Amino acid sequence: MGRLRIGIVGLGRIAPAHIRAVKRASDLAELAAFVSRRREHAAVLAQQHHVPKVYDSLDQVLVADTVDALVLCSPNHLHAVQAVACARAKRHVLVEKPLANSVAEADAMIAAAALHGVALMVAQCRRFTEAVRQAKARLEAIGPIRSIVHTLAVRFPGLATDWWASAEATGGLVLGLNGPHVVDTICWFFGQRPTRVQATAVRHNQGWEGEDEAALLLDFPGDGIGVGHLSFNANYGVNERFVVGARGTMHLTNETRLVVNGEVVVDETYGPYLEGGPNFDAQMREFLTAIRDGRTPMASASEVRTSVEVLEAARRAIRTGCAVELPTVPAAAA
Ligand SMILES: NC(=O)c1ccc[n+]([C@@H]2O[C@H](COP(=O)([O-])OP(=O)(O)OC[C@H]3O[C@@H](n4cnc5c(N)ncnc54)[C@H](OP(=O)(O)O)[C@@H]3O)[C@@H](O)[C@H]2O)c1
Repeated sequence: MGRLRIGIVGLGRIAPAHIRAVKRASDLAELAAFVSRRREHAAVLAQQHHVPKVYDSLDQVLVADTVDALVLCSPNHLHAVQAVACARAKRHVLVEKPLANSVAEADAMIAAAALHGVALMVAQCRRFTEAVRQAKARLEAIGPIRSIVHTLAVRFPGLATDWWASAEATGGLVLGLNGPHVVDTICWFFGQRPTRVQATAVRHNQGWEGEDEAALLLDFPGDGIGVGHLSFNANYGVNERFVVGARGTMHLTNETRLVVNGEVVVDETYGPYLEGGPNFDAQMREFLTAIRDGRTPMASASEVRTSVEVLEAARRAIRTGCAVELPTVPAAAA
């Protein structure tokens, strides 16, 4: 297999991180196309990054034979329809988080990818730092896990991009945008599905429909507890995870510093988040090598579906004020 030809869909805030990652994986892939509603903006970027093709729509790139895989950097509510279209056109997909805003959408995406034999990976970029990978590898030494508390708090005084105004598009603002990070790492670290989801969320800023402050409480089999705390109202960014195990304790700061039982194991410094970095590079390599080797990638859609289920349950819990029980095995696709 030659180098994979990659297209980037949606040239907004997160796209540069993926553009950089493809360029840094030049032994495996090349940037072959940009898909953008803004022709001039796309043309400037294409020239800057030596990208040969620019398309106005996903449909156009899917009928041309210029890409093997697409990175979907589009708003949350477009992920499902775009990923299904890509799969039907037999293109592999790396979709930004969240996989989808609903379980029904996620199942349609997973079914389409399976039917057409393409990879469908979710860009859970916060799994791919050295500190997080080391943490995952060392969990057994401190386990079984008793509890995980993850605070992900940032400062957004207003819309970072227009579609954030819509609760439907974002999947509940802070819950739909940063919830996928927090829920993914809690579930991935536990290595199990939660059995029960409780949640509460409120809106302080009236500039959007969704909620900007939320808390999640997840019960895991074997008396494990997961706590997610999400805020768009912090004065400064805080990203802290505590993992309490039966035989030790772990503390992750910003995904780049890992302390296990009081000992610093990894301490790295990353550049600005949206510019990408080693975690986006490692994520891209995982996607590309999985396609090359014909294996299921890490953070495959089938695996990340649990996060979509948890976030859907959380939205129901917020609406009703009641805890939501999750089935012990995933319900069959609708
Ligand atoms: N991994 C992370 O930590 C991380 C961080 C930030 C965002 N994300 C995810 O990445 C995705 C994109 O987020 P973003 O912050 O980059 O958003 P953004 O700046 O608004 O970029 C999204 C791009 O999608 C394209 N688009 C196509 N149809 C659109 C429509 N109907 N409405 C608005 N945009 C449309 C636009 O690009 P064109 O104008 O070029 O067509 C737009 O610039 C989201 O799923 C988000 O959750 C992930």
